[in-house]
Amino acid sequence: MEERIRTLIEEATQAILSANSTAELEAVETRFLGRKGQVTELLRALPTLPPEERPRFGQLLNTTKAQLQTQIDQRRAELQQREREERLRAERVDITLPPRPLRVGLKHPLTQTMERVRAALIGLGFEFVDSPELDDYRYNFAALNYPDDHPAMDEQMSFYISNTRLLRTQTTSVQGRVMERRKPPFRIAVIGRCFRNETVDATHHHTFHQVDAFMVDKGISMADLKGTLAAFARQMFGEDVQVRFRPDFFPFVEPGVDYAIYWQGGWLELGGAGLIHPNILRAHGIDPEEWTGFAFGLGIERIPMIQYQIDDLRLFLENDLRFLQRYGA
Ligand code: FA5
Repeated sequence: MEERIRTLIEEATQAILSANSTAELEAVETRFLGRKGQVTELLRALPTLPPEERPRFGQLLNTTKAQLQTQIDQRRAELQQREREERLRAERVDITLPPRPLRVGLKHPLTQTMERVRAALIGLGFEFVDSPELDDYRYNFAALNYPDDHPAMDEQMSFYISNTRLLRTQTTSVQGRVMERRKPPFRIAVIGRCFRNETVDATHHHTFHQVDAFMVDKGISMADLKGTLAAFARQMFGEDVQVRFRPDFFPFVEPGVDYAIYWQGGWLELGGAGLIHPNILRAHGIDPEEWTGFAFGLGIERIPMIQYQIDDLRLFLENDLRFLQRYGA
């Protein structure tokens, strides 16, 4: 019996030490100390020994059991520690990876231009107001002195939403809204998107931007309009810029002009302008004998196109990152 116990201890110790994972150790524990384990079996066999030997062997087996249990617990602690370290090593986050580059947003060239236009006109005394992009036919055309069948309405082919509502074709649509509510004198400006049902090409889009500004006061003449637009051009394009006005027709001005600047060897048209038509003043209860005013409206895209020599205005809406990174700021 003693011999068996010694061999058992050796075998068990060997097995415990060579268990290489907590799972293997679990199996060793079951093999020796489990319900049907070898030590348990020997304890169970005690009653078959002669009575005088039972206490000694009983004690010996119990000590053996406790001793093996201690060895197993120690080995388990070691293995658990090792397994935990291995898991941590496997799950470690590699903080030495270079960070992804931060992408800083830039201001769209049109946004930059609109900010500059706004600053220039505020400097000239204009107050900016908002006006809806989805507007009434009345404000976009009728209140602007367009007769019902005027061909200009074909020129500004429109996106109608209903019989009476359309996406504004020009920011000039703000005039009627302001004149209905305010008494002169006033200097108002509006900037934003306009829409025309046009064939898109390098200089025309269905969606583009305009700025309109107009003022009504006593004794306003073409001299005020020309002075204002000359000052505006200097602010936007530099002190030496030359401006040109040529007769043009818009139903809401009389006289009407087109407005151009001289830039790198050629005259470039920026928009239209003129003195506010007396019919419009009269329609809003403003006496044209007492008050006069001017108005102008410019395309925004034209300005960065001139400044940066961008030859295709479709680029402004395409969101090509190469374009945005080159001209963004
Ligand atoms: C007008 O829209 C008038 N409302 C301007 C005006 C205001 C005249 C006040 C008199 C008094 P016009 O249709 O020419 O005019 O447009 C003015 C500018 O907007 C053009 O010179 C051009 O720069 C820009 N523009 C017009 N249509 C488009 C388009 N489809 N795509 C890009 N820019 C456009």
